[in-house]
Amino acid sequence: MSNQPLIAPSILSADFSRLADEVAAVRGEPGRGADWLHVDVMDAHFVPNLTLGLPVVKSLLATTDLPVDCHLMIERPDHWAIGYAEAGSHNVTVHVEAAEDPVMLAKDLRAAGAKAGLAIKPNTPLEPYLDVLAHYDTLLVMSVEPGFGGQTFIADVLGKVRTARRLVDTGHLNLMVEIDGGINADTIEQAAEAGVDCFVAGSAVYAATDPAHAVEALRSQVEAVSERST
Ligand code: DX5
Ligand code: ZN
Repeated sequence: MSNQPLIAPSILSADFSRLADEVAAVRGEPGRGADWLHVDVMDAHFVPNLTLGLPVVKSLLATTDLPVDCHLMIERPDHWAIGYAEAGSHNVTVHVEAAEDPVMLAKDLRAAGAKAGLAIKPNTPLEPYLDVLAHYDTLLVMSVEPGFGGQTFIADVLGKVRTARRLVDTGHLNLMVEIDGGINADTIEQAAEAGVDCFVAGSAVYAATDPAHAVEALRSQVEAVSERST
């Protein structure tokens, strides 16, 4: 069984000139709005896009009490990720394709007080990293190629979600399964059925007239799936 579902709006699709307001816009009703705030850090090397870095994350941490979920799409995460943990991020996710020593990195992130997350791109298999994942708190399954919001959901990655869900449910792994990319009203139910715990949504939330309502509506869809399966 999945944990209580979490909805994590991605500010990649927010208006960067009004970030504090955009963060406040996803709060919603108590217990119904955003659970985590997903922050996409891109370095124009690991991905062909450039977003923001540690100074902006520090400003966000000072402006909200929402748990901040940093998704580092950067090269040399072994060097850079620790700063995001030390700043007070709730969860810091690095890409397995970029990390040199993912086990040591997870230990460092946890020692700095953060949860450690490992992200895998759509074409990266899960099996070679099962031992590594024993050291992680979250597995982020990318359901688009990292780099941009508003792309089409790649349903093929749900096989990896199902595998991870099974390994968690049978006690072989102890982590939260997160999905990122193309999550919206049309795709979230299949992700929920596959066993996702934490749903990142960027354009589906921030392109909506009422972002908090969009978060609540996504949560209701996930809840409807879990009610059907019990
Ligand atoms: C893409 C980012 C995502 C992005 C998702 O590389 O990691 O977090 O914001 O945006 P949507 O939900 O629009 O696909
Ligand atoms: Zn992301």
